[in-house]
Amino acid sequence: MHGSCFVSGFLGVGSAVRPGLERNILVRNRRPAVGSGRLRMVISDSKPAAAVSKPTQKPLSPCFSSGPCKKRPGYSLDALADAPLGRSHRSKLAIGKLREAYSLTKSLLGLPEGYQVAIVPASDTGAVEMAMWSMLGERPVDICHWESFGKGWYGDVVKELKIKEVNEITADYGQLPDLTKVNPAHDVVFTWNGTTSGVRVPAGAEWISDDREGVTICDATSGIFAMSLPWHKLDVVTYSWQKVLGGEAAHGMIILSPKAIERLESYTPPWPMPKIFRMTKKGKLDEKLFDGSVINTVSMMCVEDYLDALKWVQDLGGVPGVEAKSMGNLKVLEDFVGSRSWIHFLAADEKIRSNTSVCLTLDLPKEKVKEMEKLLEAENVALDINSYRDAPPGLRIWCGATVEAEDLQALCEWLEYTYEQVK
Ligand SMILES: Cc1ncc(COP(=O)(O)O)c(C=O)c1O
Repeated sequence: MHGSCFVSGFLGVGSAVRPGLERNILVRNRRPAVGSGRLRMVISDSKPAAAVSKPTQKPLSPCFSSGPCKKRPGYSLDALADAPLGRSHRSKLAIGKLREAYSLTKSLLGLPEGYQVAIVPASDTGAVEMAMWSMLGERPVDICHWESFGKGWYGDVVKELKIKEVNEITADYGQLPDLTKVNPAHDVVFTWNGTTSGVRVPAGAEWISDDREGVTICDATSGIFAMSLPWHKLDVVTYSWQKVLGGEAAHGMIILSPKAIERLESYTPPWPMPKIFRMTKKGKLDEKLFDGSVINTVSMMCVEDYLDALKWVQDLGGVPGVEAKSMGNLKVLEDFVGSRSWIHFLAADEKIRSNTSVCLTLDLPKEKVKEMEKLLEAENVALDINSYRDAPPGLRIWCGATVEAEDLQALCEWLEYTYEQVK
């Protein structure tokens, strides 16, 4: 199992200790907690230990990566047994699967009447670029960015599309820019949740005018399903399956509002349009693309995996259930960070703090943080939790709902221990 995040079984022991209590503790006796479904340590805090001792429990899954993210609890390849492997993606069977994926997506997300959904090539990047290449250039563009991916979209618009009238509305890592600077007469491109800074747009997005003239293009890849989105404010929403859903990478999703469709049908950009970006035919929306007929071949295995993930969302109570679980996960880290002086949220303001990609800074030099990561990896406690290469040095811990709170609690004990080891 080392290095793998595939199965979450009942092989280890989970933590019953609340962060904040586990400092200076003495392990007294051990017995399984009743009715927990997992073995837990029972720990008394009666006598302070001299130093932080090596934790005796590990997370059941060491997968805390911010993408691809951990698979849902209980996942196994059996979930893919119904995938129409070896069949054409244009067969009746496969189109039925694609249609099922679209209708489940629409109902779980609560999309308003008239919004369309399609699977598109090249993951979230493909979906964002397809939207920008297809719609921008008609009017000035406001680009709001506060981390690496949003900055990339800004670069696309300025350097690749070479749009002249572009307003850059930006802030440093850990901050949100002043979004009220967005002009409702302009198009706007922004990221709902900045995966590399752990900063999200607060729910509601009141800064987007209901009477806007421009279209809003929102990269929601690490927020959607874990944060409720104000659909009437959003004209294009993109994501991939590999974040909150714990699905597979490589396929993108695009959601279009009636306003976005109107733009596609009324505007033809001056630049060449690659086949994989084309959403219209003879000046009209290619409706087949939103009804199970994809631009190029999709993996029906990945589609089956997406269907499995959507059914897991349904079982958790839909987006509100997924969001609640993710908020509970964030709370585990908040309790821990709140009771330690050496670890901090990059997003100090909790109103803009992500409940999925949680970014932390430590009072340690970069090399020491690296050392901590190596120790955590060597113990198979936490994998891939290094901060993104452009972000301030620190840790990034996924708190989406595929991760379990008990595993985060166990991880916190190891953070404490490894910090003490390297400092
Ligand atoms: C905010 C954001 N946008 C875009 C991407 C790129 O996603 P993909 O690799 O699915 O294209 C990522 C990946 O982490 C992301 O976090």
